[in-house]
Amino acid sequence: MFKNKTVTVGISGGIAAYKSAEIVSWLKKNNAEVRVIMTEGACRFITPLTMKTLSGQPVAVDLMSMDPAYNVPHIDLAACDLFLLLPATANILAKAAMGLADDLLSASLLATKAQVIAAPAMHCDMYDNPATQGNLQILAGRGWTLIETEEGVLACGAIGKGRLAGIPKIMQVIEATLNPDKPLAGRRVLITAGPTWEAMDPVRYLGNRSSGKTGYCLAGAARDLGAVVDLVSGPVALDPPPGVNLHRVESALEMARVVTVLYPACNIVIAAAAVADYRPRQAAKEKIKKSSASLNLYLEPNPDILAGLGQNKGERILIGFAAETENLLEEARKKLREKNLDYIVANDVSQPGAGFAGDTNIATIISAQGEEKQFPLMSKKALAMEIWQYVIHNSQFTIHN
Ligand code: PMT
Repeated sequence: MFKNKTVTVGISGGIAAYKSAEIVSWLKKNNAEVRVIMTEGACRFITPLTMKTLSGQPVAVDLMSMDPAYNVPHIDLAACDLFLLLPATANILAKAAMGLADDLLSASLLATKAQVIAAPAMHCDMYDNPATQGNLQILAGRGWTLIETEEGVLACGAIGKGRLAGIPKIMQVIEATLNPDKPLAGRRVLITAGPTWEAMDPVRYLGNRSSGKTGYCLAGAARDLGAVVDLVSGPVALDPPPGVNLHRVESALEMARVVTVLYPACNIVIAAAAVADYRPRQAAKEKIKKSSASLNLYLEPNPDILAGLGQNKGERILIGFAAETENLLEEARKKLREKNLDYIVANDVSQPGAGFAGDTNIATIISAQGEEKQFPLMSKKALAMEIWQYVIHNSQFTIHN
């Protein structure tokens, strides 16, 4: 994932220093060339031997080092694709904000032209101090990416803001920075696609005209943008895009079960499936015999899968589709609200070239903030990329503070 990328990891002296080991190991496993700088304080929390073993490179501590691995240590170490400061103590942030260069880490930070990502970690009172907040503002103004601290129990037992951000979040920010053409890198996307079939008997079902093309195009586009993709698909005659995790289902109840299992791990959901709203109350065990009498079929409602997800949304982004034949935008806005969505893609399936089965669509995306963008007639593949670009742009994935 990070082939040919050089990352300098600066570790400053705080208890969260031990957490940098996991990130260094992960960077290395993903083929980055990792060079570690430790402050004297950091060396008291975690040993240079640990970091040398994980990074596979000598660890630099001394500004005046005569280590033959470096010509001029702080200049050599400043030259990288990404400079990661993890953890960033109040002290190193203050030095960087002031432009001090009295040790190897601060001198390298002053010399670097690379993007700096800093993950602050400190006691809540130090974090809240206007001096620290002012320094963070200065550094953000210089283009540093600051990964906001988390609130919780700190090492000393105090409760407040100042804990190092979660490791998965730090990984996401690194991935997005090193692979800017992959804005969904580090994200897990769950997509539903196709129709559901609701069994009447062993050979018949109630279904709809969805081909799955829309959901499959969205899955392929999400993969191209760097996401890990779970595609939960009703019965369709399509090959899944290579590299996505395909979960085949038949009925709405099966789709609901699989989606419920996958939901906790995902960051974004797009529900493009045309889920049957009703199912036969009971599927006959044997094939229903033909007769001249009319046949009554008792239907009961299926669960609304997307509405269920909306009730437990957390930090996730939820995107629904609305297939309508009248009052397109009003109906779509109603569904956006009722299902607690962030976006809804409205398609008027009565228009030629739009909706079910064909290779093209005409759609309007509506955000929870009430913004709308129309997409004229285009291929479902092009529409999928347009939808992702809109969502990525409006959701500001790479802003973390
Ligand atoms: O597959 P294609 O042939 O390419 O066609 C694409 C499409 C027309 C099916 C697609 O673009 C689309 O509009 N899908 C949603 C169709 C639909 O069922 O809309 P709805 O208005 O009934 O549902 C609204 C939203 O709730 C949808 O995101 C749907 O997936 C979800 N839903 C609906 C019912 C239900 N029981 N559970 C759900 O999750």
